[in-house]
Amino acid sequence: MSDGDLSKSYDGISAYAWDWMGGDEIQSDLPFYQRKIQEVGGRALDLACGTGRHLLRYLKLGLDVEGVDVLEGMLARLREKADAQNLRPIVYRQSMEGFDLPHRRCFHHLEPGGRLLIETFIPAEAWNPELDRRLGENIGEFSTWGPTELPSGETVTTQVRMDSIDRFEQVKTDKRRHELSREGEAIRTELHTLRLRWYFTHELSLMLENAGFVGVFIHGDYSDSPATAQSSETVYAATKP
Ligand SMILES: C[S@@+](CC[C@H](N)C(=O)[O-])C[C@H]1O[C@@H](n2cnc3c(N)ncnc32)[C@H](O)[C@@H]1O
Repeated sequence: MSDGDLSKSYDGISAYAWDWMGGDEIQSDLPFYQRKIQEVGGRALDLACGTGRHLLRYLKLGLDVEGVDVLEGMLARLREKADAQNLRPIVYRQSMEGFDLPHRRCFHHLEPGGRLLIETFIPAEAWNPELDRRLGENIGEFSTWGPTELPSGETVTTQVRMDSIDRFEQVKTDKRRHELSREGEAIRTELHTLRLRWYFTHELSLMLENAGFVGVFIHGDYSDSPATAQSSETVYAATKP
């Protein structure tokens, strides 16, 4: 399994083990997005909702939120958790790109006054050619995730390597190797290529404006303050006029 499609790199063993590898943990992003949904009011759409880390918690809070994700493996886990909590989520299995140009599609989905929130990041390798020495090697402290024990008794270990970087095209590829083991023996391995394109600050702002959005604001670190070069997390907010 190796075709460079971003969503595919979450499939297979990754989707199966996602929640136990930390994929369902609440972080400081949850109260931020919750507040933003409440601020605008009305229905919200959680694009790339995964296993429902946010979506199911929103539903518990009584928020009107639906989800979209392209991978059945992730949605299956979401439904399993929803059943256990007696929640009835509305989720669509769709690719964001599948229905239209991504930002235009988001634009058409929103009601006037509706808001789009996009969380994104620029990888350190985009700025720092020194990091090219990592090519073909494990990447820093996160090079190995796990082993993580699953409720089935199996364990999952993931290794990540940077494979290529093209600063002109603003694309880097990583290789991820997942290994599923039972009683210390590897029973399945998968190799995924994760192709990541980054967008710079003004570029993404222009793309949003080009799609028809107004009032683009970049939140830093899940706060209402504007992002700066020191922010670890950036969330772009844009309103449909
Ligand atoms: C890192 S997970 C995040 C899940 C969730 N948003 C969360 O914060 O827990 C990324 C999710 O994006 C989904 N995804 C990736 N590309 C997608 C696309 N083009 N359209 C829809 N979903 C996509 C994957 O299937 C995966 O569930």
